[in-house]
Amino acid sequence: MMKKIKWGILATGDIATAFASDLTYVENGACYAVGSRNLTKAQKFADKFGATHAYGSYEELAADPDVDVIYIATPHPYHKENVLTCLRAGKAVLCEKPFTVNANELEELITYARDKKLFLMEGMWTRFLPAIRKVREWIASHEIGDIRLVKADFGIRAPWLPEWRLLNPELGGGALLDVGIYSVSFTSMILGANPEKIMSTAHLGETGVDEHFSILLTYPEGKTASLNGAIRVGLKNEAIIHGTKGYIQIPSFHNAREASLHVGETVQTFKDNREVLGFRFEAEEVGRLLQNNQKESDIISLDESLAIMKLMDSIREQWGLTYPFEE
Ligand SMILES: NC(=O)c1ccc[n+]([C@@H]2O[C@H](COP(=O)([O-])OP(=O)(O)OC[C@H]3O[C@@H](n4cnc5c(N)ncnc54)[C@H](OP(=O)(O)O)[C@@H]3O)[C@@H](O)[C@H]2O)c1
Repeated sequence: MMKKIKWGILATGDIATAFASDLTYVENGACYAVGSRNLTKAQKFADKFGATHAYGSYEELAADPDVDVIYIATPHPYHKENVLTCLRAGKAVLCEKPFTVNANELEELITYARDKKLFLMEGMWTRFLPAIRKVREWIASHEIGDIRLVKADFGIRAPWLPEWRLLNPELGGGALLDVGIYSVSFTSMILGANPEKIMSTAHLGETGVDEHFSILLTYPEGKTASLNGAIRVGLKNEAIIHGTKGYIQIPSFHNAREASLHVGETVQTFKDNREVLGFRFEAEEVGRLLQNNQKESDIISLDESLAIMKLMDSIREQWGLTYPFEE
């Protein structure tokens, strides 16, 4: 029997709560400690999820010698600093998406982690969902023939709260970094993250961040991808992969519970019927990698995360969107 991985949770917001709730179902790990800027919040979170240790600072969490891996769940502009705090303390790290705000920040983290031989991974949880694994299997066995075209849309109708992280430039707001990354990462999984040509347009709203965008990517051999993202308007949130023999359709692809394979008149549907939200699968994968002493995932590698971040930098450059802390 391998030892259970002891998870530390850094921050106590919405996604930290969702992740910790899924951790209670994880077979190879458990929520062990939590760190917050506020000890009372940390204690409340720890009580709720059965963590035995609560800390009133991120540094104290990172310094706990018994924590095996830390999950970072702060707003994006803090990811770099928070990841570094944990890596410097010798911890393995799973960091929420987007990994960082730009490629320069991520390069620094990757260099540090590789130099110190520490585990580091982007929390692109979609990759580990059973339905998405099934999609990769269908593609690998050439069920839809040669892939020609990918479509992926993700948009939510968020309330008008200009100070909130989704709309606030100081907190890395905007559709691309929050929801758009799912479409970019999904496309990268299918066609790669190095298109030959990028065409894009965005509506920058009152707070200066992208409220919605459209992106067209061209790849070698004429393969294309079209992606839309939004934070002030709900979209259909579907991904479709078209090949020469058929297509794969994934409703609500970012948290996919099902996917269907269409070849001629035949439709094959895969459903996972899970009860958990879905973070369980990425957490279990991290546990397995740590138990095998691996430092990177090959399902979402550090090189791919970096290529995705560079692609998003290029897209933002086309829009003239930089964040105040980048200037
Ligand atoms: N994978 C997914 O499905 C998913 C979904 C939503 C969000 N996310 C990602 O997760 C990250 C956090 O998003 P969230 O929705 O959980 O945000 P949130 O609810 O606002 O929580 C963020 C937490 O970060 C900490 N924090 C540290 N400095 C902060 C600051 N200056 N302002 C606000 N909070 C600060 C706070 O925890 P303490 O007070 O305890 O220190 C806060 O509770 C983002 O990068 C986002 O992209 C991922």
